[in-house]
Amino acid sequence: MAEVSVGRTTQRSAALFERACRTLIDGVSSPSRGPLNYHPHPLYMESGRGGRLRDVDGNDYVDLMLAFGALVHGHAHPRLVEALNRATERGALTATASEIEIVVAERIASMHPCAERVRFANTGTEACMAALRLVRGYTGRDKIIKFEGHYHGWSDAYSLRSNMPGGDAVDSLGIPAGALADTIVLPWNDVDAVERALDANKGDVAAIVTEPVMANMGVIPPRPGYLQALRELADAAGALFYVDETVTGFRLGRGGACRRFGIEADVVTFGKALGAGFPVAALAGRAEVMEALEHGRVLQYGTQNANPALLAVVDESLRMLDDAAYARLEQLAGRIVSGLREALDGEAIVQSVGPMFQIYFTDAPEITSYRDFGAHVDRDRFNRFVHALFEHGVYTSPSPALHSVLCTAHTDEDVDRVIAAAAASV
Ligand SMILES: Cc1ncc(COP(=O)(O)O)c(C=O)c1O
Repeated sequence: MAEVSVGRTTQRSAALFERACRTLIDGVSSPSRGPLNYHPHPLYMESGRGGRLRDVDGNDYVDLMLAFGALVHGHAHPRLVEALNRATERGALTATASEIEIVVAERIASMHPCAERVRFANTGTEACMAALRLVRGYTGRDKIIKFEGHYHGWSDAYSLRSNMPGGDAVDSLGIPAGALADTIVLPWNDVDAVERALDANKGDVAAIVTEPVMANMGVIPPRPGYLQALRELADAAGALFYVDETVTGFRLGRGGACRRFGIEADVVTFGKALGAGFPVAALAGRAEVMEALEHGRVLQYGTQNANPALLAVVDESLRMLDDAAYARLEQLAGRIVSGLREALDGEAIVQSVGPMFQIYFTDAPEITSYRDFGAHVDRDRFNRFVHALFEHGVYTSPSPALHSVLCTAHTDEDVDRVIAAAAASV
């Protein structure tokens, strides 16, 4: 068992939080990083290297949050740092046509089975907004089907039942009812529900929009054949099938969830791991559908789109994502999941797909839906458990709705530390 150390101090984090609350809302820049999840204060991180993070008090952590899954190669990978430095010396942003955007688009097209054409954006939220406009623009239809507990960024039309169960159905104040009038929300992993909704809205549904693995209610895999059934139902209804690969793209293998589960999407979106730590996102898909973006007929603009310096990093990162990298991730994932199951000793279950996993404190044998999550997951216990993990040198999100992930820089020693920390924390 790896050594774990307790009795750390976090005084500098406490002092920074007090100072931060005087100018920043909640002392942070995104609500999930603040008092919603962290008690009595968030940990202020100073630097990261490989699979480790260091806070401002000098405490070291194995990082399983990895910037919500963005850091596929961990922190400050020397090849990515060098690529960025070389690129910024040539000038970071031109907002013109550039060769690097062709190179990276070709790379994405060669890796992902559904990416015949590519359009760059900056964040997952933006890519998902553009994809929504695209499916509506291409089909001339307004309604979309999305699923309970699925998150596609924080834009208005998706902001229905994406938060944890128990809160308001509408995710936020400030969303006009009209913005949600064409959003149909259904339970996931339930083919009949989709069939009924398509029947009741014949000729009106532009797209079925889904995460391929539910990654914003922990980690909930699709039932065997479910994603294929969605594809077939979309075809029969003349609707598009849009798979949001913001979390799974370049994570679950070179071809993301689409290749892993053998599905063909009309439209996909990427973010997180695509950018390897930088704000680069993309929508991609079948040529015929994507061509609706030509000449701005379906409009998507962006001063920062295809930032050449950041695409130089993405190019290097994608080149590093070969079969050996994914094989190593799967092997580490196998070790950590079985080690955690043993360490948690019946107190919790662990669900995973590839390098993504989540621990659920629950009386249920498995969590298969948003409703299961609402009825059977002890969220407070998870939050306390993660705060105990911090004491033992492991960092992940204290929100039970998020998940942990491994990167190519994690080591067997990191895995051992996580398992030992979980055993000590539970
Ligand atoms: C499936 C999914 N889509 C879209 C987004 C939004 O991405 P971003 O945070 O880059 O705006 C997220 C973020 O967690 C996500 O999980």
